[in-house]
Amino acid sequence: MKGLSLILGSILLLGCAGFTSSYLNLYMDSIETFRLLGITAELYYVRNGIINNYALSFNLPIPADVEDIYFTWQNLKESPAMFYRMGFTVSNPRAMNQPSANISKDGQVPNNLSVFQVSFPCSGKMSAEVDVTLQMNISIFSASNLTVLDFKRRKMCLKAGVWAKDLPSSKHVMGNFSQQDQHFQDASRTDSLTTSTHIFYIAVGCACALILLIALAVAVYYLNSQKSADRYSKRMNYYDSSSSQALTAQSQTFLRPDTPNNATGAGLPNFRRGISAIAELKPTDVKAILNEIAIERKRLSLGEILLEGTFGKIYHGVLVGEDGNEISTEQEVFIKTISDQAKTDQVQLFMTESSQLKGLVHPNINPVIGSCLEDESQPMCIYQYSNEGNLKKFLQKCRMSECGSHYSLSTQQLVYMEIQIIRGIQYLHRKKIIHKDIATRNCVVDSDLVVKIMDNSLSRDLFPADYNCLGDNENRPIKWLSIEALQEKRFSPASDVWAFGVTMWELMTMGQQPYADVDSFEMASYLQEGYRIAQPINCPDELFAVMACCWAMSPDERPKFSQLLGCLQDFYTALGRYI
Ligand SMILES: *[C@@H]1O[C@H](CO)[C@@H](O)[C@H](O)[C@H]1NC(C)=O
Ligand SMILES: *[C@@H]1O[C@H](CO)[C@@H](O)[C@H](O)[C@H]1NC(C)=O
Ligand SMILES: *[C@@H]1O[C@H](CO)[C@@H](O)[C@H](O)[C@H]1NC(C)=O
Ligand SMILES: *[C@@H]1O[C@H](CO)[C@@H](O)[C@H](O)[C@H]1NC(C)=O
Ligand SMILES: *[C@@H]1O[C@H](CO)[C@@H](O)[C@H](O)[C@H]1NC(C)=O
Repeated sequence: MKGLSLILGSILLLGCAGFTSSYLNLYMDSIETFRLLGITAELYYVRNGIINNYALSFNLPIPADVEDIYFTWQNLKESPAMFYRMGFTVSNPRAMNQPSANISKDGQVPNNLSVFQVSFPCSGKMSAEVDVTLQMNISIFSASNLTVLDFKRRKMCLKAGVWAKDLPSSKHVMGNFSQQDQHFQDASRTDSLTTSTHIFYIAVGCACALILLIALAVAVYYLNSQKSADRYSKRMNYYDSSSSQALTAQSQTFLRPDTPNNATGAGLPNFRRGISAIAELKPTDVKAILNEIAIERKRLSLGEILLEGTFGKIYHGVLVGEDGNEISTEQEVFIKTISDQAKTDQVQLFMTESSQLKGLVHPNINPVIGSCLEDESQPMCIYQYSNEGNLKKFLQKCRMSECGSHYSLSTQQLVYMEIQIIRGIQYLHRKKIIHKDIATRNCVVDSDLVVKIMDNSLSRDLFPADYNCLGDNENRPIKWLSIEALQEKRFSPASDVWAFGVTMWELMTMGQQPYADVDSFEMASYLQEGYRIAQPINCPDELFAVMACCWAMSPDERPKFSQLLGCLQDFYTALGRYI
């Protein structure tokens, strides 16, 4: 929470500049803020004459399919009258024609609440990101007595005929378009520019934009919660005591919330030198490991089959206490097992993968807690029960509104689940384990929306659509693999970050298949070209920014789990405040 208060402090410190004798309000209303940022709140640039420089300094991105933006303003007092003069500067006049507004260039700030519209018309001559500044000079009494407000916007402009989803990858977006332009000069593609969510480009400042977006979310929240002037001044005094160091420290501080759960940072250098995931274990080793937690067959009773593949099954079962005192020690469990049709190597793989998380204890990890190897060809592995079962299946049921009306699965609840997954992975990384197959299919959930990560045994059999062979006979979760894991089988905490990004996407889409229309053989070149999964409908831009950063080409550019946790926790808190 320290990072948060520093930011709030800095907003206040900056906030004292302004029209002390006047009562101007100038803001984006909540509909507009939601449209551009995915946040439901008013974003004040000037509130009761006090300027929010924090909000003004944010260069707000405008997607290709949005041409008009709206501001709401009002001079709260009849006198003194307030006059304005507005002007625009455009960084790239070839890509954008002169912007315009539906109010006159100069005039009087209205006393009744009014909306004005500003248009950023792309010329269609070329594709580019255009920086536009709307300058508002506001004066009271005389022209010499003026305050300059600069509203910065970064508008994405596309060359006519280019579909947003065909946009070239990062290096081209940032630089040279001429080659790409020719390529996209396809006369048949002139209809619409609305599919901008398909675009993915790793902007140089990925992390930076992320920080800004989240910071802005907090700023919005903060200003929104300002209900009265005296609360303002009380807080003002309080934050005044924090020095202006707060300003310079804010961006770093924000990504380092002082929570006890972000200890992965310390462990990372070790990982870099040599990642030792579970080494390939010999059959006898695996048996020995599982035999340490052996359970007599008679203590297990199998119930309903929850998931079934060609040879693997997951049962809902009951484990009774050792002393036979069934009443006191009956425990519901998941039982993973494999039919006697399975080949020896499948049985072996099942046992190896099931033993991966053995012995770990964490609220967001569900390791194997027992085994029954009495029937060699049909081993059973026992896990703690979670009453809503597999997370992927749960999400899919909820999408079809079949998971019961008591689950609304709001964005906030989905973020809550994501946070838990991060905590589980952080714990694994502290234990020097790279999971390598983070996905909703490898998680379980209960009715309190507590999520636990499991090992991936049987997943290939139970979720065959999620795994593909690329000719090497190795069945891998291609669509969840980072580029380096896909091409070179290199795994690191950063490859788990990538998979976590895909997992977030699965949560936001309620269990849809990522890259559904991309052939798994083409994944590597698809990723190389800079394409990624599209932003899900209803997924706030901040959350998409978080996942998109997880898919940075270079492992070093991807955020650390501690940063992801900080972002999502703040986002979670912010969501809680508005709703
Ligand atoms: C606003 O005021 C500044 C400083 O006086 C001036 O340079 C600028 O041209 C003015 N902008 C407009 C749009 O009038
Ligand atoms: C708002 O104010 C303008 C002039 O100040 C006036 O012409 C207009 O009728 C007012 N509109 C409303 C809805 O009060
Ligand atoms: C400008 O456009 C907005 C939105 O279309 C509208 O509400 C507003 O009344 C317009 N203002 C003027 C002065 O035409
Ligand atoms: C602006 O006008 C107000 C009211 O006349 C006056 O008090 C203030 O000193 C002026 N400020 C400047 C910078 O001229
Ligand atoms: C852009 O690409 C064209 C064609 O390949 C090339 O001639 C030009 O020098 C490039 N410009 C820059 C700035 O790289």
